[in-house]
Amino acid sequence: MIYLTKKSEFSASHRLFNPTLTDDENFNIYGLCSNKNGHGHNYSLEVTVKGEPEPETGFVIDLKKLKTIIETEIIEKVDHKHLNYDVDFLRGIIPTVENLAAMFWKALLPKLSGCQLHKIKLNETGSSWIEYFGDEFEIKKYEL
Ligand code: NI
Repeated sequence: MIYLTKKSEFSASHRLFNPTLTDDENFNIYGLCSNKNGHGHNYSLEVTVKGEPEPETGFVIDLKKLKTIIETEIIEKVDHKHLNYDVDFLRGIIPTVENLAAMFWKALLPKLSGCQLHKIKLNETGSSWIEYFGDEFEIKKYEL
């Protein structure tokens, strides 16, 4: 089994808030990330796939193909966007890195063939990140 990782970057704004709570309650949970008009991050996204290399090509997956899938399904949709409002497949969710990674996973999974999605690593601040391996968890969708 070989693991292959493609790293991408995007910039986006977001606001972390739960619309069923007051601004004060949101500030207590999310701090500055609950700023009313949002704020920006430079995100780093690493997608890892795994598989056995095709004997004919020696590739787990053609890296150009993987890059195109990540660009089309994620980067083009989120780069320079407000994650709370501008991105259809994220609409109504609280855009924490945890929730974003799970939504990115759902977007990529049906597009990959010949290899398995193994991990999504998402870094928002530079000094901390999450790693997601596809386990299901509940994500609430709120009316905006
Ligand atoms: Ni933030």
